[in-house]
Amino acid sequence: MKYRYLGSSGLLVSRICLGTMTFGNPDWGCDEETARAIVTAFLDSGGTFIDTADMYSGGASEEILGRAIADRNRHDLVIATKCWFPTGSGPNARGLSRKHIHEACDASLERLGVDYIDLYQIHGPDPGTPIDETMEALGALVDSGRVRYVGCSNLYAWQIVKAAMTGEQMGGPRLVSAQHLYNLVRRDVEREILPACDDLGLGMICWSPLASGMLTGKYRGQSKPDPDSRFGRNIGIYLSRYWWEEAFALVEEVVKAAGEVDRTPATVALSWLLGDRRVTAPIVGARTVEQIKANLEAGDYDLPMEIRERLTAAMPLRHGYPKDWIDNSLPNTFRHAEFEPRHSVKLP
Ligand SMILES: NC(=O)c1ccc[n+]([C@@H]2O[C@H](COP(=O)([O-])OP(=O)(O)OC[C@H]3O[C@@H](n4cnc5c(N)ncnc54)[C@H](OP(=O)(O)O)[C@@H]3O)[C@@H](O)[C@H]2O)c1
Repeated sequence: MKYRYLGSSGLLVSRICLGTMTFGNPDWGCDEETARAIVTAFLDSGGTFIDTADMYSGGASEEILGRAIADRNRHDLVIATKCWFPTGSGPNARGLSRKHIHEACDASLERLGVDYIDLYQIHGPDPGTPIDETMEALGALVDSGRVRYVGCSNLYAWQIVKAAMTGEQMGGPRLVSAQHLYNLVRRDVEREILPACDDLGLGMICWSPLASGMLTGKYRGQSKPDPDSRFGRNIGIYLSRYWWEEAFALVEEVVKAAGEVDRTPATVALSWLLGDRRVTAPIVGARTVEQIKANLEAGDYDLPMEIRERLTAAMPLRHGYPKDWIDNSLPNTFRHAEFEPRHSVKLP
């Protein structure tokens, strides 16, 4: 297993993060015994970075994870969790108010059975709460020792920048990570979010790195997903997100590349993400021990650059405006500059 710094923080994490959304989920997840075996396989491989959330399986994911790590050395682990989704029926049992953030964090600490959370993430944007209230609440968690680092998830680029700048103006806390949907099929974050994170020093941790299993090649040749599969059980969300002709053509390219490097398609898809140093870690979800063991191969495997580039070109991302305007206009405008402009705009 190799380790990367989480963004520009000093925190080293395994470059495979273990996702625990399957833990305790009765429909498409696994029971506690399997979850424990998944955690053991992950830790035995040198994995340290584990992601959960207060809403996964209604809190059961945090509880199961807490019991699975109870006899481990807490300081060797980097535990990440999140708040934002409803945790009760009351109007304040959700979102990013000071009240909810404090209550949600205390409840997560209790379910996990730990004294502190390494990375506490806001799971989404709250349009009703001023961002300074949210950042102040997160800062108070850090000051009280309940949280070590703070991150975000599922925000627009402008919201990430606003939160980071607000934190900076207040003298803390600093956002160190963003957790977003990112895989070979869905590369939306490359337009605005990844460049913003890179500029601000946030590490990208990618959720759904295998496109809910599609990038393993398991759905090849199917016109409709098997009703018992992860896709079949979440048809309303996943079909429009991934089930496209171009995506299946891309899967064929991933399978072909896997044959060339003698690895699994999952390893190729995960190491494609890790080939971009703006990415800290894919968050790997597994339903079985066999799956996590297979996916851990990417912990120290680096995809050859020419294969990475071929896969990137296989389903090109349409950036659109303003990138096309900037790409046309910027090189001539700044032709006297000896160096490339810094930050997100790269000269072709
Ligand atoms: N911040 C957010 O909003 C957010 C959202 C979603 C997830 N997450 C985080 O990201 C983690 C991963 O998300 P995800 O579950 O959507 O990831 P994913 O990589 O897209 O899908 C994981 C699923 O793919 C299948 N799979 C995995 N490895 C496989 C293998 N080697 N061979 C065949 N099938 C395999 C399994 O499902 P089946 O066996 O059932 O097919 C597994 O549950 C979560 O656990 C969570 O921590 C965060």
